[in-house]
Amino acid sequence: MSSDGVNEGRRRFLTAATSVVGAAGAVGIAVPFVGSWNPSARAKAAGAPVKANISKIEPGQMITVEWRGKPVYVVRRTAETLANLRKMDALVADPDSLQPQQPAYVTNQSRAIREDLLVLLGLCTHLGCAPMYRPEVGAADLGGEEWQGGFFCPCHGSKFDLAGRVYKGVPAPTNLEVPPHSYDGDAILVIGVDQEA
Ligand code: FES
Repeated sequence: MSSDGVNEGRRRFLTAATSVVGAAGAVGIAVPFVGSWNPSARAKAAGAPVKANISKIEPGQMITVEWRGKPVYVVRRTAETLANLRKMDALVADPDSLQPQQPAYVTNQSRAIREDLLVLLGLCTHLGCAPMYRPEVGAADLGGEEWQGGFFCPCHGSKFDLAGRVYKGVPAPTNLEVPPHSYDGDAILVIGVDQEA
């Protein structure tokens, strides 16, 4: 009887159980398939270093590279950008990068191994949003003349300069983090491997 409620309920249970078995069967097939086709993706997720060709990055351009599931920003800075950093020292909270937000080999004003290449984790140090790259000097919505280009976090308004140094008086407490990195020749950036001393 389909109207007694008991049989109806049992029918629903059997239908649900069949669906679960079907789903489990599908997973059982899918895992070895993915494993045989995508070993490099699994290695990256586990923390393997990532190499990026940086030879095509134009002056002023930023690319994003994924490392350990996180965005890494790579910006090619110009001589003008580097000169403008000096104007920022009074506006940023940790101008000399005294807090440990970078490996020891990049503790300098430009926060880089190669001054023309800025390498940062693209995660705001407040609550982890992705800051936006805003290279336009003098952007009216970011402070006008004071703004020398940098990163703006849309979540709560934190600002960072083009060395990833955090502005004073914003929610983010520290500079953006510089991940361990090194170079393999002129054209290859290796993220996840420290530069040798
Ligand atoms: S997460 Fe960036 S300002 Fe809050």
